[in-house]
Amino acid sequence: SKGAAMVTAVAYRLANQSQEIKEMLSEFRLTNDQLLEVKNRMTSEMQKGLSKSTQESATMKMLPTFVCSTPDGTEYGDFLALDLGGTNFRVLLVKIRSGKKKSVEMHNKIYAIPLEVMQGTGEELFDHIVQCISDFLDYMGMKNARLPLGFTFSFPCKQTSLDAGILLTWTKGFKATDCEGEDVVGLLREAIKRREEFDLDVVAVVNDTVGTMMTCAYEEPTCQIGLIAGTGSNACYMEDMRNIEMIEEDKGQMCINMEWGAFGDNGCLDDIRTEYDRNVDDFSLNPGKQRYEKMCSGMYLGEIVRNILIDMTKRGFLFRGQISETLKTRGIFETKFLSQIESDRLALLQVRSILQHLGLDSTCDDSIIVKEVCEAVSRRAAQLCGAGMAAVADKIRKNRGKDHLEIIVGVDGTLYKLHPHFSRIMHQTVKELAPQCDVNFLLSEDGSGKGAALITAVGCRLRQELNN
Ligand code: GLC
Repeated sequence: SKGAAMVTAVAYRLANQSQEIKEMLSEFRLTNDQLLEVKNRMTSEMQKGLSKSTQESATMKMLPTFVCSTPDGTEYGDFLALDLGGTNFRVLLVKIRSGKKKSVEMHNKIYAIPLEVMQGTGEELFDHIVQCISDFLDYMGMKNARLPLGFTFSFPCKQTSLDAGILLTWTKGFKATDCEGEDVVGLLREAIKRREEFDLDVVAVVNDTVGTMMTCAYEEPTCQIGLIAGTGSNACYMEDMRNIEMIEEDKGQMCINMEWGAFGDNGCLDDIRTEYDRNVDDFSLNPGKQRYEKMCSGMYLGEIVRNILIDMTKRGFLFRGQISETLKTRGIFETKFLSQIESDRLALLQVRSILQHLGLDSTCDDSIIVKEVCEAVSRRAAQLCGAGMAAVADKIRKNRGKDHLEIIVGVDGTLYKLHPHFSRIMHQTVKELAPQCDVNFLLSEDGSGKGAALITAVGCRLRQELNN
């Protein structure tokens, strides 16, 4: 009959469609061999960043941080900390006690940084930061205390000491003018001077990965790696001085800020990048840069998903073939939406209501497909991040000349904390790709602020020792 023929035709079309959808997503399913290859390339890029002869042209900068040891519990005092570069900008007061009652107490306030300030002039940005510090000091009733300050500045900085860091390039959503090539501690000090209201003693500039590692090491001395899987993606670890050719010293260790987000900027990941990755990169604030970060961090995963959804809609697989204004809007899929959509406890009806909330009018079939797309993109992100981590753990194992290494990674970041599957898949990947390492992850609550204070405490102590 005619009816039956139509049903068959529809069923046939649907089967075909789902085949095509599978094919579109298959590029995101990396094989074990591909992941192993990513790990090996990460290892060789690390080496390039550490060696004198290759460091200039290396894409991963492997930056010395001048943090030479993890905390030992003798740190104490009251410190201010700034945390710039993650999801929120925060000012913190951190009180550290040493000895038997070793403890850390924190007060903090979150401040917004409007988009026009993030992407305005450097002077406006730093004036805004100092304005927030001023508000915080009022709020705490501490305007007259000249406290030492640790500045968590989560961008690539070339450090020449603990308290000097030249911004190499903005990453993520920042693009303020006249900052690249400048010492950000200098920019902060000048802004404090311009305001003529209070004085602060900037002691340390700290990457968030380093702050996270330090916070975790305060509780667990075997923590020697820091990882951020959030708005951006990056890692740091304790490297042997003899391997850091840019620094003369040969004894001891120093923490290296890898800036692994830039992995792939020389094209070494091109074989696994998809047309959607290239699209996201092309329309970002920093085209061609931070290619690995753009495949694994919160700021970009939603954009990859959006690009796939647009393509699927164009092909008529989604949203009745209609590309809505919302779908054309950059940045609609924040990490928290991806996390909700992929949550196992959520019924499809709820997925639909999230899409509705985003202004995307979907059918039930649509929501199944959207969820599949999200899963494919975030799974690849977790696996890529795991492949990077496996390279770091194995490097440390080899440094120590061991067959087996037990190590702890201090980790923070919205993607790691909020996403329902990211952490599990990442852990699994590390296990598979670094079988000679036993890697444990420790969530470092509020890592960057606390860690900056701990580093500042060490900085103050060293300074006193020098003066005596
Ligand atoms: C970006 C920054 C890096 C930071 C990371 C996580 O990759 O360049 O310095 O650690 O984001 O916030």
